[in-house]
Amino acid sequence: MNYVVSHAIPAVDEFCELRIEAGLSAMDRHAAASALPRSLHAVTIRDGDQLIAMGRIVGDGLHVQVVDIAVKPAWQGNGLSRIVMEDIMSFIETLPTSTIVNLFADIDWLYGKFGFVVPTHTTGMSLHRGADGEHQSFDAVEQRRPGPDQV
Ligand SMILES: CC(C)(COP(=O)(O)OP(=O)(O)OC[C@H]1O[C@@H](n2cnc3c(N)ncnc32)[C@H](O)[C@@H]1OP(=O)(O)O)[C@@H](O)C(=O)NCCC(=O)NCCS
Repeated sequence: MNYVVSHAIPAVDEFCELRIEAGLSAMDRHAAASALPRSLHAVTIRDGDQLIAMGRIVGDGLHVQVVDIAVKPAWQGNGLSRIVMEDIMSFIETLPTSTIVNLFADIDWLYGKFGFVVPTHTTGMSLHRGADGEHQSFDAVEQRRPGPDQV
């Protein structure tokens, strides 16, 4: 297949749609329009015009986070996330070794291949807010997440 790898940031609509199609949570489009240009690094893979895979690094160079790793379901299992992650790791190599690099993994089989480990000296924590501003339990967040059949 003729895939094109690029460092151009994705457009808002295709970014939001790829997240949902891959089963990640829906993002506010206005926030995405403001946030995407502030990516430290973005990598996309296209099949023709279609965005089929992506990944980003956000942060300020002292602390960075790997986010939005997603491959469209029809293209999964073809090595695209490895291409995305190898590109992300090449960018990380350009950062000082003192930079703190984090990610939150929804899956436990990918990121270890690139050196990420589950830390034992610290606990990653997240705050999830509902539309009403109330803080939610992780169970409530999982139930809200759209499945592929709800897209
Ligand atoms: C997770 C995801 C990004 C992986 O993308 P992908 O393109 O299908 O993965 P790849 O084909 O590049 O596989 C990468 C490696 O993982 C392995 N792998 C793929 N699927 C696997 C699975 N279900 N279980 C274990 N290993 C798996 C592959 O064998 C490959 O290993 P190798 O490179 O050492 O040979 C993709 O499935 C996805 O978008 N999922 C939904 C969104 C998501 O969960 N994103 C991550 C959020 S943290």
